[in-house]
Amino acid sequence: MSKTFYIETFGCQMNAHDSEKVIGTLEHEGYAQVQDEAEAGLILYNTCSIRDKAEQKVFHRLNEYKKMQGEGKRFAVIGCVAQQEGEKIFEKAPYVSIVSGSASYRNLPEMLARLEAGETRITGLDDRQTNETFETEFTSRTNPHRGYITIIEGCDKFCAYCVVPYTRGKERSRTADSVLAEARRIADSGYTEIQLLGQNVNSYADPSGKKSFAELLEAVGTVPGIRRVRFTTSHPRHFTRDIVEVLDAVPTLCDHVHLPVQSGSSDVLKAMAREYTRDWYLERIAWIKAAKREISMTSDIIVGFPGETEEDFEQTATLLGEVGYDAIYAFKYSPRPNTPAITMADSIYEELKIDRLKRLNDIQRDLQRISYERHLGQTMEVMVEGHNRQRGQVIGRSSQNKTVNFTTTQPILPAPGSYVNVRITQTFPNSLVGEAA
Ligand code: SAH
Ligand code: SF4
Ligand code: F3S
Repeated sequence: MSKTFYIETFGCQMNAHDSEKVIGTLEHEGYAQVQDEAEAGLILYNTCSIRDKAEQKVFHRLNEYKKMQGEGKRFAVIGCVAQQEGEKIFEKAPYVSIVSGSASYRNLPEMLARLEAGETRITGLDDRQTNETFETEFTSRTNPHRGYITIIEGCDKFCAYCVVPYTRGKERSRTADSVLAEARRIADSGYTEIQLLGQNVNSYADPSGKKSFAELLEAVGTVPGIRRVRFTTSHPRHFTRDIVEVLDAVPTLCDHVHLPVQSGSSDVLKAMAREYTRDWYLERIAWIKAAKREISMTSDIIVGFPGETEEDFEQTATLLGEVGYDAIYAFKYSPRPNTPAITMADSIYEELKIDRLKRLNDIQRDLQRISYERHLGQTMEVMVEGHNRQRGQVIGRSSQNKTVNFTTTQPILPAPGSYVNVRITQTFPNSLVGEAA
């Protein structure tokens, strides 16, 4: 087998960052990444199983790999579908040699050695109860300006609809010292923005007992060279007041909180096992709104959870206006294997789910059309991400994570990664337009 690899990645930011660590590990083991699967000796497929018949899509893709099996290629299926389907993958796709969930990635060097020795049934599926995290200094970061750092892996919340606790294993945090060492290392190598990652970042529990989540935020925010710190995803159940206090106190912490509500109805929240009510959630929102600086809020929402009535849905719809989110990511409920909700009657038929999703997104769009107007005339710091040469615009992002497209009178366009003050001259429901100040 040639020591070249091709990797394809689906799913959330955690999964994308896992791939960066997997790539770094492979490179350290002497493998070279190629951008064309035809040239690769090893093809890795980092999968997601959050919704929409994900496993069927994976098997469909694996069928396409089948055509390449005669070329001496080896295949690895990793990530959430790998953990969920396990050895079934070998039955359905016998040409696959490695099946591994994310909780086993720290054993990758050993798995690769076995692969090179000719083994064809290598699994990493038994680590979901581990206390260990995937710590590696070999991370191949794809974004040269925003560095991702996982601070907590797994999830112990077991929301009724969700596969993550089954695919990523139990919740385990890295020590604050280890997180800070990585933050300093990437700051030294030129990163100015850090995004802390976890399925529930604010469930962070330092195994060394040194820092709370808020204290860790402050420590990362004061690493020399760091100008922006983001964190995602926060769980309402563990959203404490000291998080808002530290956002107020440390200017490098971005003024944005992603706090998924999932539903505005306390009955649905109960059925989902989210363990909070609408009022309890709104109390956290009130804390955020009472901060000294304006903090942008975003959310995830599921429509059509089993038993969701029209009244329940209305409660979600009215919550949008009450909170004033700057963006929502709304999904139709999708029954997932192994989850408690799969045994509930999936009583909401597809057309109704589609209808509710559309109504919700329409309401949110109208709200954003008006609420984004508040930025008109403001000057905000924008981190440049790229250029749209056709439109003669620079593309960037505000601290609140909003897309800002702007023009400049300077002959040389500001480079990606640089920070520019921009005066907002026009607003859209999902983006802002301005001029370099
Ligand atoms: N840990 C995060 C989210 C992880 S998954 C949290 O608790 O907020 C990202 C989003 O996918 C979830 O917030 C939820 O809105 C959505 N999601 C998860 N399982 C789903 C399912 N079975 N059907 C539809 N959407 C789902
Ligand atoms: Fe899934 Fe709930 Fe865990 Fe989020 S908190 S990953 S929705 S089980
Ligand atoms: Fe998907 Fe696994 Fe992330 S299911 S959303 S890749 S945790």
